[in-house]
Amino acid sequence: MCGIVGYIGDKNAATILIEGLRSLEYRGYDSAGIAIVDRRKRLFLLKKAGKLKALSDCLINRHVSGHLGIGHTRWATHGEPNEANAHPHYGNTRDFLIVHNGIIENHHELKQQLRKDGHRFSSQTDTEVAAHLVEKFYKGDLLKAVCRAIGCLKGSFALGVICMHEPDVLVAARKDSPLIIGLGKGENFIASDVPAILSRTRDIIYLDNNEIARISKDEVKVFDAKCREIQKKKVRINWNTDSAEKAGFAHFMIKEIEEQPQVIGRILTHRIKSKQVVFENLNLSRAQLKNITDIQIVACGTAYHAGLCGKYILEKMLRIPINVDTSSEFRYREQIITKGRTLIIPVSQSGETADTLASLRAAKEKGAKILSLCNVVGSSIARESDGVIYTLAGPEISVASTKAYTAQLMTFYLLGLYLAGIKKTIADKTVLNYLSKMKKIPALMRDILKNQKRVKKVAHEYVHRYHYRLAEQFKFLEDEIVQFQDPVKALEFAEKWARLSHSAYGRRFGDFPFLYLGRNVNYPSALEGALKLKEITYISAEGYAAGEMKHGPIALIDEFPLVVCIATKSAVYEKMLSNIREIKARKGTVLSIATRGDKEIQKKEYSNYVLEIPEIDEFFSPLLVALPLQMLAYHIAVGLNCDVDQPRNLAKSVTVE
Ligand code: M6R
Repeated sequence: MCGIVGYIGDKNAATILIEGLRSLEYRGYDSAGIAIVDRRKRLFLLKKAGKLKALSDCLINRHVSGHLGIGHTRWATHGEPNEANAHPHYGNTRDFLIVHNGIIENHHELKQQLRKDGHRFSSQTDTEVAAHLVEKFYKGDLLKAVCRAIGCLKGSFALGVICMHEPDVLVAARKDSPLIIGLGKGENFIASDVPAILSRTRDIIYLDNNEIARISKDEVKVFDAKCREIQKKKVRINWNTDSAEKAGFAHFMIKEIEEQPQVIGRILTHRIKSKQVVFENLNLSRAQLKNITDIQIVACGTAYHAGLCGKYILEKMLRIPINVDTSSEFRYREQIITKGRTLIIPVSQSGETADTLASLRAAKEKGAKILSLCNVVGSSIARESDGVIYTLAGPEISVASTKAYTAQLMTFYLLGLYLAGIKKTIADKTVLNYLSKMKKIPALMRDILKNQKRVKKVAHEYVHRYHYRLAEQFKFLEDEIVQFQDPVKALEFAEKWARLSHSAYGRRFGDFPFLYLGRNVNYPSALEGALKLKEITYISAEGYAAGEMKHGPIALIDEFPLVVCIATKSAVYEKMLSNIREIKARKGTVLSIATRGDKEIQKKEYSNYVLEIPEIDEFFSPLLVALPLQMLAYHIAVGLNCDVDQPRNLAKSVTVE
């Protein structure tokens, strides 16, 4: 979603803003802009549709100086991604400039009102009303004007505001969209996320909801919604910029895939002390945890898949009902919560996902205790929960989540063991057995990553098959054209086909959908495999519980779809084999994810392709199965020349509903 950066100090603001926006590119965006003010109160405003490069290219050979500025990458919600809709926005005059992340829900009514007062609008965005409101309320004090303006806004916002009359002030405000303040020496920053300013400072202040800050180069003051000054804690960031850089890898995604053994190793070292699981920020007593009779997990996307797997894990370990819901559904459902008994577990990499945050708040209001699983330290979900377990994956930059997913899975196993210890639902011997199996997982992951060549080969064969089919279509087009005597008809036909082929190409693999099938604890793995593929390759892919195949998806089967079957050794192995036989009987093409050494599944009557994982207790197998699925999606995306780290239309953290 939109990214915000702001700077005030003595250095060149343009350089700092572009550098910061570059670090926020991972959030997803479709236009960008900056506004810079110099000490002589001159404004430089530049906005461009498309990638940041379009903006930074315009700055080459142009000396833009200025000590104060705001910058923005926009992920379109209201109005298309063009220059007029790009931020910063201004009011009737260019005296007040504003960047915004979030959605102003009452922008329509506000616009109508402002129009009556003589305000003219030049964009289709919701944001522009905020600039007009600040302009309207300005009486010589920017902080007060912003304070009054945000009092009129409904919805969510993180704002950066500057004004030509006060070139030594940067104002920031937030409600339900993330915003941090970076503290420097003789300079200060604002940003949507830590990576944007990490190369400049490690000391930050997290703005909370309904807080507003007045920032000069030497001072930061934070106020509540009534403009009363409040004291805020400074937080020191202790991770470094390396984790937010590619370090020689072609993409963040493959770097993050490869980091998984290290991440899982780190979680185990950090969380297991003297054969006991330890969590430091639970803020829930043993008695409170013992009283829990049911658990509700809420999450979105990949985190939802981790939550679904968490259901299998916790049910086996705790033998109490565990429900999982996508946050966007849970928040509007009748939530059944028994005070003191129901534990809510929001799962989120970013800790800022709007629907998950709203679910947390809805459940809290009904008296539920909240224990979140978050990756980003200090994020909104982490701060608003009763307790938090950090998943310790380190910064995840690629939009497609990989290491954050396996870190969430491992955290569920550990949480299961911890709660089982309190509830006495697993024998001590089993706990020790599980712990010793878990400790082997980093090495097993390394082993899979070593065999990446095989995945690459399968991916390339598949990409080749697709290109071959496309070439065939074009060949057909050529043959048809020569049959036409009438050149006008020939041209019409050619144009029609060009459009069709183009849209087939645009949809990628329209003729080659993927179906992912899994059972039991690997049913969520099938969903996650399909999500990974579709988000970075734009190939249509569905994940299904294999037992559901006969209830619909089997109608899709002929030689074209690739059916990825998770058929590792387990109690449901025979069931998976029988699913595969049914697919093969219909000329289906099967890629099996299998246990190394399984000779049966290698046979032609079962698999066209096989990707292996080492032998592992089926209960922990999702941790390994994830890797070939991630790599398959990655290598197909690379083969198709897709924008792996920043797929179209997607944002890393979805901070609006
Ligand atoms: O930050 P969160 O974990 O709350 O994000 C949830 C989803 O938006 C996220 O997992 C999304 O589905 C990823 N792009 C998947 O790779």
